Amino acid sequence: MTDPHAAVPEAASFHLDCRWQSAGPHSAGRLLFELRNLGAAPIEGFRLAFTTLRFAGRGAAADNARLLDRRGYFHEVAPPGGFRLAPGDVWRFSLGDIAGAPQHRGEGIASAYLTLAGGERPAVTVGDLRREAPEQGAATGPIVYALTPWPAEADLTPSDRLPGYLVPADGASVDELAAVSAVSALFRRLFPLEPVPFSLMALPGDRPLRFAHDAALGREAYRLDFQGEDILLTASGPAGRQYGLTALGQLRRGARAGCRFPAHGHILDQPRFSWRGSHLDTARRFFPVADVARFLDILAYLKLNVFHWHLSDDEAWRLDIRAFPELTAIGSTHGPDAALPPQIGGGRHPSGGCYSHAEVRALVAHAARLNIDIVPEIDIPGHSTAALAALPALVDPDEPADTYASVQGFANNALNPAVELTWSVLDAVFDDLAELFPSPHLHVGGDEVAEGAWLASPLARRLMADLGLDGTEALQSHFMRRVQAMLGRRGRKLAGWNEVANGGGVETDGTLLTVWQKAAIGAGLAARGYDIVMAPAEAYYLDMAQSGDWDEVGMSWAGATPLETTYAYEVGGDIPAGLLPRLRGVQSCIWTELIASRAHFNHLVFPRLAAVAEAGWTPPAEKDWERFRALCRFCPVL
Ligand code: ACM
Repeated sequence: MTDPHAAVPEAASFHLDCRWQSAGPHSAGRLLFELRNLGAAPIEGFRLAFTTLRFAGRGAAADNARLLDRRGYFHEVAPPGGFRLAPGDVWRFSLGDIAGAPQHRGEGIASAYLTLAGGERPAVTVGDLRREAPEQGAATGPIVYALTPWPAEADLTPSDRLPGYLVPADGASVDELAAVSAVSALFRRLFPLEPVPFSLMALPGDRPLRFAHDAALGREAYRLDFQGEDILLTASGPAGRQYGLTALGQLRRGARAGCRFPAHGHILDQPRFSWRGSHLDTARRFFPVADVARFLDILAYLKLNVFHWHLSDDEAWRLDIRAFPELTAIGSTHGPDAALPPQIGGGRHPSGGCYSHAEVRALVAHAARLNIDIVPEIDIPGHSTAALAALPALVDPDEPADTYASVQGFANNALNPAVELTWSVLDAVFDDLAELFPSPHLHVGGDEVAEGAWLASPLARRLMADLGLDGTEALQSHFMRRVQAMLGRRGRKLAGWNEVANGGGVETDGTLLTVWQKAAIGAGLAARGYDIVMAPAEAYYLDMAQSGDWDEVGMSWAGATPLETTYAYEVGGDIPAGLLPRLRGVQSCIWTELIASRAHFNHLVFPRLAAVAEAGWTPPAEKDWERFRALCRFCPVL
């Protein structure tokens, strides 16, 4: 197991800013620090550790601080005895005699943590190294505001100045300061070479940011008013505030690179859909925890709010299940001598990976801080080769091998509803899923159960006869109904791929189906009473190649999907107006058989993911292909 703390950004209730104060040509000057408590409790008797290239000399003149330790770049300081840092308060101190005058923004605080009186070590977010603000340059680009997704309503006039850092005005609440610190940290992680757009330390030339609350705005809505130097962000809660801050950060990034920052006007914004998602197949290819965490950051930047996490497939089972450790011990490793042979991209060296509960908890907490819901998927009853290899007792001993095969060529790959162990394993799986993931929906796959599945299993045939069921699809419907009841006992609703509706389907109430095979299927499912999320392969499968060119990478079975096709797909064209209440939203799917490297991932996923994000957020009348294409250069990558 890797240490999730190293790979997943942690919650930070403290924020450290630092500014360099020049002292003329004969001195390196001083570093001036501001430590803010953004948590709910006061602290006392604490020590602050940090690292910086511009280390303080042994005899550093510390002001309002005691320098307790300094070895190399490591420093530990403490406030004067009896000092108490209440929520919202600032501890200001400075150090002189530093090792040379800083020449670049990146020479400030590289990392920091606190040691509290009780020994706990909370994380500290750090800001850019600031200096007495030089005159901000002019912004001269064409009048394009670098916003992706584009807002529902924007009425703006451009500034010809580049704004300084965006800094909360006096009077901001602790929650508001913490929100700015969190979005600032998000931008730092996504764009480590760029200045962050925000600071909590005000210097001349900065742009003050005021906050207001308006309960009439939706949970994810926000309003931004620009008036000269003044910016006002209004929201009804944390999600809208995060999206408003993200929009401001995007505007400032863009203004530094040929776009403009608003001088006057307003943005009034809210999403088109409540489900704006992306799926990621971590079964075909294992993504380290740090990559999943970064992918969540990218979703947040694009104002996506659902991560559909594909955790099992024929190739591998990636989630630790406490009661059945074989699932990952055997089912997540491939190699010439392993139970599972190498699959696409695998070779003579064993490979694999799985997610521990500690890692999942860290990712779920990270997602929650970004207002993202993680919907885990265990893909059953088909796509289960890895589970069947890990637990051979799941197979009916009297079923001949190789009696049916999936479209991907995996023989006899479905969990058997007539084998009692199937239900013990699923009980354990759903116990762990429900404990780890707060999402109201748990996704249980249901796709591509092969024609003829179970028909040569004597146990399954007996079950079909007892229940009066005829054929694979009818038995799949029975399987899924039993799964639905198990989820219901755990207070969760069923999500699945569109084939869950086959053979009689399941109870429609609360069920959510991901429509993938063809967009045209969506309307029929909605008419039957299912809630739907549209992820049509012909537009939103980001593993599809982007052209028919022989040298292009990606899959081809759903056709070539250039960026413009993904952008142009309009979900409303496939769902009649009367059924629109059943349409919960849109999502992309990232299947990974042919995603052989980070280069493949970035080439296939970006900026098509941003096109899906804009479809999920922006009213169709406000979409604009030329504008979107011009702004794609700002899209982050993994
Ligand atoms: C799927 O692409 N089989 C959901």
